[in-house]
Amino acid sequence: MLVREALAQAMRMLVEADVPSPGLAAELLLMHTLECERGELHSNSGRELSADLALRYFDDVTERLTGKPTQYITGHQEFWGLDFEVSPAVLIPRPETELLVEIVIELARGEPCRMVDAGTGSGCIALALASELSQAAIDAVDISEEALHVARRNAMRLGLAARVRFHCGDWLEPFLRENGEESFDFVVSNPPYVSQAELHSVQREVRDFEPRIAWGGLVDAEEVYRRLFAQAQKLLKPGGFAVVEMGYSQSAAVTKLLRQGWSEISVRADLASIPRAVIARKWTTTGHDATTTSAG
Ligand SMILES: C[S@@+](CC[C@H](N)C(=O)[O-])C[C@H]1O[C@@H](n2cnc3c(N)ncnc32)[C@H](O)[C@@H]1O
Repeated sequence: MLVREALAQAMRMLVEADVPSPGLAAELLLMHTLECERGELHSNSGRELSADLALRYFDDVTERLTGKPTQYITGHQEFWGLDFEVSPAVLIPRPETELLVEIVIELARGEPCRMVDAGTGSGCIALALASELSQAAIDAVDISEEALHVARRNAMRLGLAARVRFHCGDWLEPFLRENGEESFDFVVSNPPYVSQAELHSVQREVRDFEPRIAWGGLVDAEEVYRRLFAQAQKLLKPGGFAVVEMGYSQSAAVTKLLRQGWSEISVRADLASIPRAVIARKWTTTGHDATTTSAG
């Protein structure tokens, strides 16, 4: 069987099973089997695939038909141009989350600062920031020890292990316990935000394979934000920023939680024009009113 024939057959199987982005899945899985880049795959499309490689490839394609995300089969996902190892212990980093990294880089302006990534998962946000901001001291927290194993491995693989300190804990509790009051310039987080009411709209790839603690299914989706903002108020320096991702249509509900103690509240949209990130600044002095703006 030739490479192009294997691709075409895999495509047919994936389309028939209604797998989203079937062409991409067929290519990524074959790139994984052949350990090659996309360009090589196509320039060698007339190459013969050995029986052993074909068997491995179609085993992976069959696994994908069950709904298992391609990234859990290949064990990799790119984020901010970096290659992250992923396993079913962590959420697969999403491209829209790069917006948080972009915002923190803009606000930090390369100056020395201290930041924490709450709910780090694969470590993608903390490690992307570490790769860009050589002056930043970065902590990362997750409640899942298994997720932290993956994050620490990613830090090692990317040569950034000395740049990020990982902690196990309930949001920012580890720093509150250490009495780390008002020591951070940034609190950044992509928390689980899918509510129970939205469960019906969750793809089976997420529902059946990604860790529920990472994506939500929460009775009270706002409770996570309430806790995060309250802890961030205690830990941020005056003038420090909270930069937090939110779900589709959560913008009004999330910004409403930022009335007391915050100013310069703004919302930024992702590339699909969905309000995706909320930015809020801790009051520098008492008596400021919370002001809200929105930018695309
Ligand atoms: C939406 S995922 C984000 C992962 C990663 N930051 C990303 O953007 O791909 C949320 C993360 O929060 C973690 N988490 C859930 N509840 C937590 C809690 N109470 N304290 C700390 N982390 C928590 C989950 O384990 C998961 O890794």
